[in-house]
Amino acid sequence: MIYAVKQSALALGAADLVRPKSLLAAPRISILPSICAAKNSNFQLSTRKPLSLPSLEGLGFPSVVKPRGLGFKREAFEADRSENIEISHQEARSAAGQKLRIGIYFATWWALNVVFNIYNKKVLNAFPYPWLTSTLSLATGSLMMLVSWATGIAEAPETDFEFWKALAPVAVAHTIGHVAATVSMSKVAVSFTHIIKSGEPAFSVLVSRLLLGETFPLPVYLSLVPIIGGCALAAVTELNFNMTGFVGAMISNLAFVFRNIFSKKGMKGKSVGGMNYYACLSILSLLILTPFAIAIEGPQMWTAGWQKALSQIGPHFVWWVAAQSVFYHLYNQVSYMSLDEISPLTFSIGNTMKRISVIVSSIIIFHTPVQPVNALGAAIAILGTFLYSQAKQ
Ligand code: 3PG
Repeated sequence: MIYAVKQSALALGAADLVRPKSLLAAPRISILPSICAAKNSNFQLSTRKPLSLPSLEGLGFPSVVKPRGLGFKREAFEADRSENIEISHQEARSAAGQKLRIGIYFATWWALNVVFNIYNKKVLNAFPYPWLTSTLSLATGSLMMLVSWATGIAEAPETDFEFWKALAPVAVAHTIGHVAATVSMSKVAVSFTHIIKSGEPAFSVLVSRLLLGETFPLPVYLSLVPIIGGCALAAVTELNFNMTGFVGAMISNLAFVFRNIFSKKGMKGKSVGGMNYYACLSILSLLILTPFAIAIEGPQMWTAGWQKALSQIGPHFVWWVAAQSVFYHLYNQVSYMSLDEISPLTFSIGNTMKRISVIVSSIIIFHTPVQPVNALGAAIAILGTFLYSQAKQ
């Protein structure tokens, strides 16, 4: 089983704000770990020549008598040098191992996310009750973590009232962001939701600027032009445009930006690691979401919808629901695992790449009709997120 924590946000923008734990706890590791390792270690590139001692006999010393000091010096240097070579080999090996690990995290994260999005959409097509499916995702993740703590697979976190108090606003934002994205996907193509979600950096900058008074260098503001312009172009040319779907994705962006801001504050100085932080977040979000899901949709609608979906899809509909719930938790866990290894910036680039894989795969799997100008809008928006990540560097 995979353990870690979630965080969302495309973005970068949010990347910085986004994902709770990493921001605070994750060591900032260079995108180029080997260079970083070399910089910080004993690994040295030297232009100095090694110490070379001339023949002692040539200096008039008897061949059998070697001055102790010089002999000792030479031995010490050689020992030192071989130690350095050994250390540099170890550094190189560990840097290569880390690169491989990050590559595996990224590939797993994207793959799990693609699978989640596919099953989530399949479920929503047959059973259009996003409040229940959102609740089931959180319930499954919470259950997985509670069982893991109870059985000792994962160590339960030590929390106090202050921790839960600080987590509350994060959980509210997480709940809103999650349910809004799911509502969006129940109304429009998965690809469209993710194109709009690629606009998250714009929300991050605007909220940070307008509410927190943060300022950014000009290139950051300029990078928002293609993000906003690309999203707008994709939205107006979307063949299956739906206002609820569009607004849901926009609300999700805004909520995740706030979640990241609150997470940052809430995690400060806390010892709960990323995996357990996300587990607590899932549990609290579940408690918040359940009464709303019952009030907005409710058991009567769910029962009728469930019967209908079962009769249309067959018994394996239940497996679709299980898959979307489990994969939701797993992809978030892996995303947090990667956050432990990389900087928020690298993470945000990975998140943007994730959206590309989701957009492309969902268009192929669901045969989503796309016009060239619509694809152009998506491409401009995605390019904007890359420019944004560079500008924030
Ligand atoms: C959700 O349901 O929470 C969203 O689909 C999450 O989307 P993201 O992790 O890709 O931002």
